[in-house]
Amino acid sequence: MMYQKDQDKQKSLLAKSAIDYLEKGMVLGLGTGSTIDLFISELSKFENLFSSLKIVATSKVSAKKAIDNRMNVVGPDKCIEPDICIDGADEVDRSLSMIKGGGGALLWEKIIAYRASKRIYLADESKQVARLGAFPLPVEIIEYGHEWTAAAIEPLFKSVQLRKETTGNIFKTDSNNVIYDCFIKDEEDTANLDFNLSAVPGVVTSGLFCSFIDVLLTCRDGEVAEITGKENVFW
Ligand code: 5RP
Repeated sequence: MMYQKDQDKQKSLLAKSAIDYLEKGMVLGLGTGSTIDLFISELSKFENLFSSLKIVATSKVSAKKAIDNRMNVVGPDKCIEPDICIDGADEVDRSLSMIKGGGGALLWEKIIAYRASKRIYLADESKQVARLGAFPLPVEIIEYGHEWTAAAIEPLFKSVQLRKETTGNIFKTDSNNVIYDCFIKDEEDTANLDFNLSAVPGVVTSGLFCSFIDVLLTCRDGEVAEITGKENVFW
């Protein structure tokens, strides 16, 4: 358990460190979440750098924040290939697999990261886990027939729950899909789970990100630690 103020401090340290990976003229895949909000604020201090970047955002929210900070946001055009993608994470295990999608941006996050030459993830200490699954796995599902699709994936999990806004309205993603937050069974093989989910019609993708991390920026004893492979994992 981490104090909120320590977590906020770590997010801010990670956001600052991530700036070092940017070079002028790059195409940047911009993630989503509170850590990335801090990264956008940090980047906005470097006008010479940010004005030279093209930014493909993983959500409408991040696109708006970048535009509000006078950054050059472009669409996922076929002439554009992200040189780098910088994003947050909800959980990272010892094999560097992640759960993402707490903010509901998992699909665009996965599409952009998949095309990026280098993927950098920012995860404060609270995200380091021995096994994935304390955080519910978001599964993005086409709205049409979503209750049937949910019934089809339910046996794969301990429980599944349709994500709702605080108003009680059903949460919709930027692609107008719905999300089910799903509790992974103990001892579940996540690679197998991903495969089984992909076989169900109506499932668009899940928040399981396996083999996506090129660089993980995390914290150890309150300092930033750079992890480039499983052999560097210390938790
Ligand atoms: C959004 C995400 C975020 O990267 C993840 O939820 C981490 O968010 P935060 O930086 O707020 O802890 O996957 O869909």
